[in-house]
Formats: sequence, C-alpha cells, structure tokens
Amino acid sequence: KKVVLAYSGGLDTSIILKWLKETYACEVVTFTADLGQGEELEPARRKAEMLGIKEIYIEDLREEFVRDFVFPMFRMNALYEGVYLLGTSIARPLIAKRLIEIAHETGADAIAHGATGKGNDQVRFELTAYALDPDIKIIAPWREWEFKSRSELIAFAERHQIPVPKDKRGEAPFSVDANLLHSSSEGKVLEDPNQEPPAYVFQRTVSPEAAPDKATIIEIGFEKGDPVSLDGKPMSPATLLAALNDLGRDNGIGRVDLVENRFVGMKSRGIYETPGGTILHIAHRAIESITLDREAAHLKDSLMPRYAELVYYGFWFAPEREMIQALADRSQEMVTGTVRLKLYKGNVIVIGRASPNSLYSDALVTFEDDRGAYDQKDAEGFIRLNALRLRTLAARKRRS
Ligand code: ARG
Ligand code: SIN
Repeated sequence: KKVVLAYSGGLDTSIILKWLKETYACEVVTFTADLGQGEELEPARRKAEMLGIKEIYIEDLREEFVRDFVFPMFRMNALYEGVYLLGTSIARPLIAKRLIEIAHETGADAIAHGATGKGNDQVRFELTAYALDPDIKIIAPWREWEFKSRSELIAFAERHQIPVPKDKRGEAPFSVDANLLHSSSEGKVLEDPNQEPPAYVFQRTVSPEAAPDKATIIEIGFEKGDPVSLDGKPMSPATLLAALNDLGRDNGIGRVDLVENRFVGMKSRGIYETPGGTILHIAHRAIESITLDREAAHLKDSLMPRYAELVYYGFWFAPEREMIQALADRSQEMVTGTVRLKLYKGNVIVIGRASPNSLYSDALVTFEDDRGAYDQKDAEGFIRLNALRLRTLAARKRRS
C-alpha cells in the first residue's frame, strides 16, 4: 500500500503524514508544488526526509498553473458571486492532477489531502482525482481521525516530534492558502462577518490608505485573450502575473471581504487578496470591449456565472466546463491589443485601449458629421418594429 500526499510542509500535513503511516501502515510519497505561494520548498523537503519519507516530489508548477489554469479562466472573466476571483479554486485541479500522475508513476493506489470535511477544497481535489482515475482511493484524514480539537492535534504533533510553530498555538492563523493568483484567509478572528479584519490578516497588499498618492500608469498587451506583455516587454505567464502582483501590492489593489456560499451548504467569510488578478480582470474586459461583437460578448457574459460556479465547485475536468471553455477560447481569436491603466489607491482605472482588430468605429458613433456612415432615419423603423409587441400589449392593457 502506498499513498501520495499533498504535502505543504506545514503543521497540518506533517501531522497527516505521521497519522497515515500509523493508521494505514503504508508507504507515503509526498508531493509539494510551487504554485507561487512565496514559500521556500527546501524546508518541506528536509521535513519530509526527517519524517522518514523516501519518495519526495517537489515541483515548480508556476508557469503551468498560470498558462493552463489561470489564463483560461480569465478568458471567461470568471467571478464567483460577483467578486471572488477563484484563486484557491483554480489551483486545486492542478494539484490533484499531479497527485494522480505521481500515483501512477510510483505505483501508489491512493492519494491523500489535508482539506477538512467542511470545505470546498476536499470536493475539488476529489472530483478531479476521480475524473482522472475512476479507481483511485482517496484518504481525507480530517474526515476520518478522532482528533476533536486543535489542541489534540498539537499534542499528537508533539508526541511525534513534529515542530509546532508558535503562531499555530494562539489566535493568529486561521486557514490560509496562497499561490501566484491570490492569498485567502479564513477562520478565527474572521469568523464574525461583522468584524473588520485586523491589519495583520493582509499578506500581499498594502492598504489603499498607505498606497502612494501618485498614480502608476501601466500598459498590458494581449494576444488572443491572454496577456503577453507589460509596458511593451514580453513576459511569460507566471512572470507577468508576478509583476502585476507587485504593482497591485504597492497600490493597495485587490482586497476582497466576502461572505460566500460553500458548495457543501454553509456560508463562510473569507478575506482575499488578488492584486495582479484584479488588474488583469479589468484589463481583459477593456480589451474585449473593443474587440468582441456585442452578442458574442453578451452570450459569454451570460455563461460566466455558471462557469465560475463550475470552477468553484470543483468541476474543472468536467464536460460542461470544457464546453464553455471551448466557447470562451473561440471568442478570443480577435482579442489582441493593448490596455493602459492607472493604478491608484486600490483602484484600477482604464485610461485607454487599442487593437488592430478593433470594432470601434469613430465614423459610426461620432456626434459630428458622419458623412453618411449611418442613416439616422433607419432607427425609426428599427424602433417601430421593436415596439410592435409592446404596443400590442399596451393596447390590451388599456382594453381590460
Ligand atoms: N473559500 C475559498 C474557496 O473555497 C478559499 C478556500 C481556502 N482554502 C484553504 N485551504 N485555506 O475557494
Ligand atoms: C478547508 O476546509 O480545507 C478549507 C476551506 C475550504 O475548503 O472551503
């Protein structure tokens, strides 16, 4: 018996590692991914070695994460419940995909993860795993073990010589997740949705109040819906997102305080910081505004909430997500050009957009002499026919 564990190197997954060995008497393979969470990975390796692990996988997945997951999602302008840019949701399918691949490479028959039985993450990991391997066994220790409190967990850690960081004992962390797209914080002080989050919760943005009094102006270049350059300089997906994160951080951009509906049914309060993603979202809509046909844009917008829900619920590797993705990808063929933005105290303000494929027509829209480009008399019949139903309805109402 062999299990591949999604291992962060932190306290919880270290406890899980020991618990798996004790409970299942199995070999454990650890998998730690660099998704841009901003933590060194070598400590995770040393810790895994110290805990007696022989097969240790440590991988830099930043480019794959941004290129194959984040950017495709941004083509759809996905927002869950109006504001959440899905920073955690979009990382789960990639981690689960690698868990399955590593299981196949190492001859493991099971995978394990550290998500609790109350959240979305368990669902996302496991739906992905089953979609890629219908026979995989999944161990979710949080749903199985007997520990009833944080202090029992910590006692177990101490019994097994797992170092317990100071901040894990007291009030500070809640549940934190981070990658190149965002940081999320939940629990503890944040559990009262009527209580403003204390400053120490924020990890990757300055507060808008503390941001410079002077605006920063940037230009993002797009090609077929994906950002490819910043201020004229071509960049790889992960490099570009990292650069936007720096700009966003300094200007206090991308903080969200949200009470959301979890897939399992309860409401939960989360604090999200998505500095680069927020800039990108607004810039992408701006380049689409001149390159997409109206009906194409509206059709895409009408499917957006559904798509966001699918990503949030964990149905990345599901036919309905792939179908909407195909539609989104197809819509992006002409979405090429540049967007200029002003970053200022938490705001992202579009100040210009240009494209070789622009549908914007000066000649059509001008308030000046349009030299016959548009005949205003045509609008009369257009309105008359569109009003036909409404007049018929109004006439009936008057009769009754
Ligand atoms: N509520 C957000 C989501 O479901 C963030 C979850 C954070 N996960 C975590 N393990 N801390 O996408
Ligand atoms: C967890 O339960 O592991 C974090 C929260 C979530 O998945 O929604």
